Amino acid sequence: MKSSLRDTKEGSENSSSFARRLATKWLGRKIVFFRELPSTQDEIKRHIFSEERGLVIWADRQTRGRGRLQRRWYSPRGAGLYFSLLLKEPLKRPLALYSLATAVATARALEEVLKIPFQLKWPNDILLRGRKVGGVLLEAIPPALIVGVGLNVSFKREDFPPEIRDKATSIYEETGLIVSRARLLRAILAELEKTYEALLTQGFQAIEADWRARDVTVESRVVLRRGEHVFTGYALGPAPDGTLLLKTADGIIRVHSGEILMWAVSGWEKHRAA
Ligand code: BTN
Repeated sequence: MKSSLRDTKEGSENSSSFARRLATKWLGRKIVFFRELPSTQDEIKRHIFSEERGLVIWADRQTRGRGRLQRRWYSPRGAGLYFSLLLKEPLKRPLALYSLATAVATARALEEVLKIPFQLKWPNDILLRGRKVGGVLLEAIPPALIVGVGLNVSFKREDFPPEIRDKATSIYEETGLIVSRARLLRAILAELEKTYEALLTQGFQAIEADWRARDVTVESRVVLRRGEHVFTGYALGPAPDGTLLLKTADGIIRVHSGEILMWAVSGWEKHRAA
């Protein structure tokens, strides 16, 4: 069901007041809110050819929210921020960099609003106190790039499915704060627009320092799974094309996709102490 832009839990906000307070030129200037969708990724794909870059589809609930690696993205009503955005040419940079750039920009925006540090884990995880609080899903459908962001906002620990309860968290669980999703979305879109523009002009340099400052696995021993294969090594951080540089017994390899299962030191403690 499509509706005017509304944020059900934290007071209502109509689309003109959202737009008035949104500090972007092109990202989110058209934003469509749905009370329920199977997935914002699938909805936005229907508009690749008919819409300009910058369209945002936001849902209060997803019934078939998707994560990376064919996982489900748990998306109950009112508890999270679930949105997808449409990017189009010029996409001059390696696509993997858009995933890193989206995570960096989201972390910067969250830090600005909440004044607490967030961490990142290659290639797309946003962490809070070492647990996953959000993720980025990238799908390339030429000439477009669809970027989906999911953020656990007001979930309580018991709301998470048992299989992710130990690894996932929410802003509420870690801070006790109930924060307006509209406010978070505005801050994230503003930071994303700046970051995508900087990525076009400067490339990896635009995000490298901010990624590394938040990366929980950089310079740690890691165990990484890619399909059937498990690699162990020393994470050197992302390369300029967004792949992960991993120093193994056989030399330095570039990892294009996969999941870091374990890392040696608790990186978020390192960051918190800083
Ligand atoms: C991940 O960490 O695996 C990525 C999660 C991405 C979830 C978001 S929620 C909005 C958009 N719609 C989806 O179905 N998935 C993304």
